[in-house]
Amino acid sequence: MPRTSDHPDSATPSQAAPVVELRQLRKSFGDLEVLKGIDLAVRPGEHVVLFGPSGSGKSTVLRSINLLEPPTSGSLRFDGVEYGPGIPGEPQAAERGRPIDLRRNIGMVFQQFNLFPHLTALENVALPLRSVRGCKRPQAEHQAAEALRRVGLLERAAHYPRQLSGGQQQRVAIARALALDPQVMLFDEPTSALDPELVGGVLATMRELAETGMTMLIVTHELGFAREIGDLNVFMEDGQVVETGDREIYAGPTNPRTSAFLSAVL
Ligand SMILES: Nc1ncnc2c1ncn2[C@@H]1O[C@H](COP(=O)(O)OP(=O)(O)OP(=O)(O)O)[C@@H](O)[C@H]1O
Ligand SMILES: [Mg+2]
Repeated sequence: MPRTSDHPDSATPSQAAPVVELRQLRKSFGDLEVLKGIDLAVRPGEHVVLFGPSGSGKSTVLRSINLLEPPTSGSLRFDGVEYGPGIPGEPQAAERGRPIDLRRNIGMVFQQFNLFPHLTALENVALPLRSVRGCKRPQAEHQAAEALRRVGLLERAAHYPRQLSGGQQQRVAIARALALDPQVMLFDEPTSALDPELVGGVLATMRELAETGMTMLIVTHELGFAREIGDLNVFMEDGQVVETGDREIYAGPTNPRTSAFLSAVL
């Protein structure tokens, strides 16, 4: 695959070099192989949706991308730098990046928001700015306030998580990831733990983020939202990518397994 430097700056998003690139990525837990050779390229500004049945490996793909789960084999490149163990039979990359550098550039939002209950929204967002980025408190709080403003919650900055709805808590979690100014944001079923009436607010925040050009990888069962936002849509089953496509995939999948899944859930 070409490196960034091979491309002129004028490349359109579809031609730009991938910011995240997985090739033949495999992951086993003991004897159980849960990713069976994943190929995926995410280009700058793209919004990629991963969907598929429970246990198909969607979360493991996201967790592999920021090395929360180290891949068993295969290539994981971020911004052209190799972080994976490599593809058997291919020459090893001359240099491998450090996990800490990868994680600095990737924000992750989980189903459970994992906010600290004893800290306000502002303090929750400011904390990683201080601990990860080493910002002083006033600078961290300034940036945290800006991130809360972006998710529409600046007026709730002084509230504790128990004083916020689940949807608002998830938007604070999005602000916490955003405040670190990541190149890519990963979302693992960000609305699955929410009451139905709270889903829309979180999706609206994600839509606004997408409109700013943020590169996003989203695991979701909200296929209406996926259809609206997904530039690249990836159907996974049994640790493999079965089919990828643009938004048309939801109306007219070509693979019968994608078709069977969609007719069961839509
Ligand atoms: N830490 C682990 N140890 C052992 N097996 C694991 C571990 N994490 C995931 N698995 C297994 O890997 C497979 C893929 O899991 P994963 O969580 O990636 O699926 P998923 O597509 O995200 O499913 P869901 O839609 O239910 O969240 C499953 O069979 C799961 O049981
Ligand atoms: Mg999952």
